Amino acid sequence: MFALTAGSEDSRPNPKGNRLIIAIDGPSGAGKSTLAKRVAKELGFIYLDTGAMYRALAVKVLRQGIDLADDGRLGGLVDDTEIDLCERDGELAVLLDGEDVGAQIRTPEVSQMASKVSALKKVRARMLQLQRQMGQRGSVVAEGRDIGTVIFPQAEVKIYLDASPEERARRRYQELKAAGRQVDLQETLREIEERDKRDSERDIAPLCQAADALLVDSSSADAEQVALLVLDRIKNRTKINQ
Ligand code: DC
Repeated sequence: MFALTAGSEDSRPNPKGNRLIIAIDGPSGAGKSTLAKRVAKELGFIYLDTGAMYRALAVKVLRQGIDLADDGRLGGLVDDTEIDLCERDGELAVLLDGEDVGAQIRTPEVSQMASKVSALKKVRARMLQLQRQMGQRGSVVAEGRDIGTVIFPQAEVKIYLDASPEERARRRYQELKAAGRQVDLQETLREIEERDKRDSERDIAPLCQAADALLVDSSSADAEQVALLVLDRIKNRTKINQ
């Protein structure tokens, strides 16, 4: 069974006492994680990286060599897996059946598999349930693909963060290189475009901008400019810190 237990005692209402949800969606490499972490830290909210949950499941699928067309085995895997997100020393720990897989979830292979498993109905149904439970724990900043459209359509603030594929590929390439990996910029761009296509063309909860989301293009803005713009939007919308 999936379980997301950490943080259940970790209820962080905003200063006015009610829980707020900030939804940040967008394609890979747009800067969602940097933005979400920064905003969560600034406001003292729980940071919810929903992509990390799909990535953790992808690690298990790869380890067990499961064929995604094998509904029976995949269903069994979804039922028999515990995924847990918790904060450790100020960092997000991603627990797969109790093992911290945080260091293994960012490889290109896991990225592609996460994108594939995330298109499956059974996986999405379970993630939806878990992510909504996490939304009960306190005020959250949640990032993903379907946060403002499907998981928390009632979110007080919705941001759709985008950037050109070339710029997103360049950032991902630099990240991977800094982590000591052998990478090729053209290959990174091709992988990003492949993932964009799969994530936005799937039948269930495809990546798309919610009608009431603010579109922010980070192609030519630095992370701090984007964060300040979004914090301003949050303050105006929620009257938090006012
Ligand atoms: O945000 P990320 O790159 O870590 O996400 C990995 C994959 O998980 C991504 O290709 C699509 C999928 N995903 C999703 O379908 N829905 C989410 N809310 C978050 C991620």
